[in-house]
Amino acid sequence: MPKAKITAVAGYVPEKILSNSDLEKIMDTNDEWIRTRTGIVERRVMAEDEAVSHMGEKVVAQILEKSGTAPEEIELLICATCTGDYILPDTANNICYKSGLTKAFGFDINAACSGFVFALYTASQFIQTGRYKKIIVIGGEKMTSYMNYEDRTTSILFGDGGGGVLLEPDEEYGVIDAILKGDGYGCQLLKVEAGGSLYPMNQERLDAKKNFVTQDGRQVFRRAVNGMSSTIKEVMERNNLTADEISWVVPHQANERIINAVGDALDFPKERIMLNIAKYGNTSAGTIPLCLWEYEDQLKKGDNVILTAFGGGFTWGSLYLKWAY
Ligand code: UT7
Repeated sequence: MPKAKITAVAGYVPEKILSNSDLEKIMDTNDEWIRTRTGIVERRVMAEDEAVSHMGEKVVAQILEKSGTAPEEIELLICATCTGDYILPDTANNICYKSGLTKAFGFDINAACSGFVFALYTASQFIQTGRYKKIIVIGGEKMTSYMNYEDRTTSILFGDGGGGVLLEPDEEYGVIDAILKGDGYGCQLLKVEAGGSLYPMNQERLDAKKNFVTQDGRQVFRRAVNGMSSTIKEVMERNNLTADEISWVVPHQANERIINAVGDALDFPKERIMLNIAKYGNTSAGTIPLCLWEYEDQLKKGDNVILTAFGGGFTWGSLYLKWAY
């Protein structure tokens, strides 16, 4: 069976910066608390008239240019997001339309912060069948649309942005294995309560600010450390990999302390764990492609790479791939 190898990476963040000192001016917080508790220094904010499809369009354009691919060669586009342009329709189809991917079909995957890992593994199955040869996987968000800037425990964490990859078949390199997990117990611990079919938006819910992300930070923190480290261990064992053989761990960027705890649990040196949370905060499904984009020059052909994520749902998992270029 062919493997799905990554042949191009792209990323996009909006220009506008929201720094910790900007937040100090609008809520009871301070730069020192945010830095030491989360590792975040600033995050990006999309313009009011910009959303996930605009990010996706820019990412697709970069991917096509870098890989010398014509738009009509793309057969499928999967967009991992929990902040798509609309509740209906999906965002992937709109990205295909805006990008001139006239031969592609598209669909969204909502696995919150684990979305990119879930979407990448889903896309890799389409390649493994031998039926699909060129697939784009995007992960990205406009999280700031769902931030209550009166809630200092959550709004300081999230930002906007994302990235994507092109997948093509290969005999040797690419996605090798993944362990993906879920536990609906987490449903109430990290959510946007209103605006869906259970609690459609109305004035009362708007007044109660039910249109924003809320979470139980401490529980999410504990579960994230455990979920990411246990699935990394499991995927390493299943593939007979030692820590020395892993070139890079690409963790979801939710909190630098979570990332450090995962690294410590697995005895991975910090130099081999991708980190850019200081600049972008938590962009949910966007964090992993943004890391790959920023570290692309440091990745080498044949590198063993493990992507790992944890998010709302709860959803979590780790994916093992061999870098192809
Ligand atoms: O991708 C999944 C999405 N979510 C996450 O990954 C979140 C995971 N959780 C976390 O990252 C952390 O739990 C937080 C960053 C949300 C909070 O950090 P913490 O170390 O768990 O802090 P805490 O909630 O235990 O709060 C400690 C103190 C509290 O004050 P008291 O009760 O000790 O007086 C908070 O009120 O820090 C206070 N606090 C703040 N102070 C200044 C909470 N938020 C802030 C803030 N600025 N922004």
